[in-house]
Amino acid sequence: MKLQSTIAAVVTGGASGLGAATARTLAAKGAKVAIFDLQREKGEAVASEIGGVFCEVNVTSDESVDAGFAKARGAHGQERVLVNCAGVGNAMKTASRSKEDGSIKHFNLEAFNWVVQINLVGTFRCIAKSAAGMLTLDALEDGERGAIVNTASVAAQDGQIGQAAYSASKGGVLGMTLPIARDLMSEGIRVNTILPGLFETPLLMGLPEHVREALGASVPFPKRLGKPSEYAQLATTMIECGYFNGESVRLDGAIRMAPR
Ligand SMILES: NC(=O)c1ccc[n+]([C@@H]2O[C@H](COP(=O)([O-])OP(=O)(O)OC[C@H]3O[C@@H](n4cnc5c(N)ncnc54)[C@H](O)[C@@H]3O)[C@@H](O)[C@H]2O)c1
Repeated sequence: MKLQSTIAAVVTGGASGLGAATARTLAAKGAKVAIFDLQREKGEAVASEIGGVFCEVNVTSDESVDAGFAKARGAHGQERVLVNCAGVGNAMKTASRSKEDGSIKHFNLEAFNWVVQINLVGTFRCIAKSAAGMLTLDALEDGERGAIVNTASVAAQDGQIGQAAYSASKGGVLGMTLPIARDLMSEGIRVNTILPGLFETPLLMGLPEHVREALGASVPFPKRLGKPSEYAQLATTMIECGYFNGESVRLDGAIRMAPR
């Protein structure tokens, strides 16, 4: 799919980090971009910078996502591109014993469900509603109607201690990529997923510099954190390259995460 001014795109989590970088790259290539995010101030700033539209959306809510698509489509027309970057994480052991007093606790189920609802169910909600909209579009060259990119994580494959919820949510995104691509194949909608390693986003930029340096040095090559623009580059390739479908790709400088 050629990214140009006739193409409307929606980027969830577009107010920050990987999503913001992708919104900027898509806009630089000419696409009309709508940002779905909870963070109004940051989302509006990115949207105004790129001449796009901000929609205050919580991906865990049907009504909120419906309203977001209505606003985005009102401004730009039906999107042909959806990039899912909205996501959160937490860390807790499945069950553990306190070093201080020997007391035993287990992973809080509400906290587990919170991560799964945003990262997995929220991603699927946006995919399903976007794909339904794409079905109303005429096919482009090669019978193509749309392209969807999702964000899992290397934690889908090598999750660390404490990452049961995060890895379950991202493993779900990885696992549903092929069946969704198959569901949508007769309608000309392609679906791919990126598994980022360690990226320079607000999440990691909040860590002390020596910790970030140590994390960067743990990457085989290049020995640094990934740049959000490098994520955006792969997302854009997945959209532009018409033969890219049903695939999940690690973008990680060859890192394989250790247990901790
Ligand atoms: N940064 C990394 O190293 C890294 C590595 C692997 C995977 N990822 C994944 O990449 C994606 C983007 O991460 P990032 O590092 O850019 O983080 P980020 O925190 O900078 O951006 C995530 C955005 O998602 C938004 N969001 C969170 N919950 C939402 C909800 N319910 N509805 C709508 N928006 C919501 C946040 O407001 C935020 O703007 C996430 O899915 C994350 O799990 C990041």
